[in-house]
Amino acid sequence: MSDRVNRQWRLATRPAGMVEESDFEPHEAPVPKVGDGDYLLRTLYVSVDPAQRGWMNEDPGYMPPVPLGEVMPAATVSQVVESRHPDYPVGAFVFGYFGWQEYALGSRGLMPSQVFVPEHPLPRYLGVLGGTGLTAYFGLLEVGRAEAGQTVLVSGAAGATGSVAAQIGKITGCRVVGIAGGGQKCAWLTGELGLDAAIDYKSEDVGARLTQTCPDGVDVYFDNVGGAILEAAIAHMAQGGRIACCGMIAGYNAATPQPGPANLFLLIARRITMTGFLVMDYAARFDEARRDLSAWLADGRLRAREDVQEGFENIPTTFLRLFTGQNIGKQVLKVADPARVD
Ligand SMILES: NC(=O)c1ccc[n+]([C@@H]2O[C@H](COP(=O)([O-])OP(=O)(O)OC[C@H]3O[C@@H](n4cnc5c(N)ncnc54)[C@H](OP(=O)(O)O)[C@@H]3O)[C@@H](O)[C@H]2O)c1
Repeated sequence: MSDRVNRQWRLATRPAGMVEESDFEPHEAPVPKVGDGDYLLRTLYVSVDPAQRGWMNEDPGYMPPVPLGEVMPAATVSQVVESRHPDYPVGAFVFGYFGWQEYALGSRGLMPSQVFVPEHPLPRYLGVLGGTGLTAYFGLLEVGRAEAGQTVLVSGAAGATGSVAAQIGKITGCRVVGIAGGGQKCAWLTGELGLDAAIDYKSEDVGARLTQTCPDGVDVYFDNVGGAILEAAIAHMAQGGRIACCGMIAGYNAATPQPGPANLFLLIARRITMTGFLVMDYAARFDEARRDLSAWLADGRLRAREDVQEGFENIPTTFLRLFTGQNIGKQVLKVADPARVD
């Protein structure tokens, strides 16, 4: 394998505002040699996540910044193509964090990798059964403590995390209102996903529509975006409401820090709690959540949607889709088909 080329995308510059394709540079490295205890992975799918934008910044967030010139980290579904490790036989499928590259040594991942036997299409292990599905599950049920009969509001509702959080709200017996950009996304939310209402924040007055659609206030707000939508949601929270702060994508590409919500006093007046969380906080309970998510997929109450782009060379342009709202459901990129191993 050593004479073969491992194509990679490396971080070239730290964006000052909106991320651009030129912030990444293509690189060709040799495919790594497999030593004792190693296994070589071929990347099949890469997960495309808004959080990666934060990892590009100089200021450390919850992860150290990606060094300039390094391969962009990303969650991946890969297949073992060479192995000198008994637990990772050739042909096995592996979930891990091997980044924007075609090959990786399995023992060198950012976090421990996990062998799995696919029972669903492979991209689903990066979506509903991967980080975003787990985020939705714990964010809504543990952080938001959504209960039957309550009103749940979800922003970024047609995205990977939001679409699952909104559906878990319906499964729990809540009234669910989604906020998303554009009529097509809103029609999907109220049509196929069965939400009670959807608000198109790009063409509608969010505050006025929240008054209409949440007349008794919002008990749980699952926030994926922050910014002006967070402020509008706070204004419509019910007494004792919970805000699960999952993400703040509205500010990820801001060149300067954005002002916070002007109405935080309402947290005091209405005894609202606002709690940030990271999905990794719940790592010990991932199996439990995957069991529920798989059961809901199997009985048809939970629908999975992946937006699969193709071609290793298209990873940076696919990443930009997240910030222009081009994706519906989980954004992934297919690098290669799995090999048949008899
Ligand atoms: N806390 C955690 O552990 C955790 C884990 C995973 C993800 N997250 C966070 O969850 C959020 C969703 O992530 P995801 O992977 O599921 O991505 P996603 O929702 O599938 O894709 C991003 C979506 O964000 C919306 N968006 C983009 N720019 C926006 C803006 N300026 N204002 C409002 N909406 C905007 C777009 O939808 P529209 O067309 O509707 O605008 C876009 O489709 C992100 O904030 C992410 O950082 C947190």
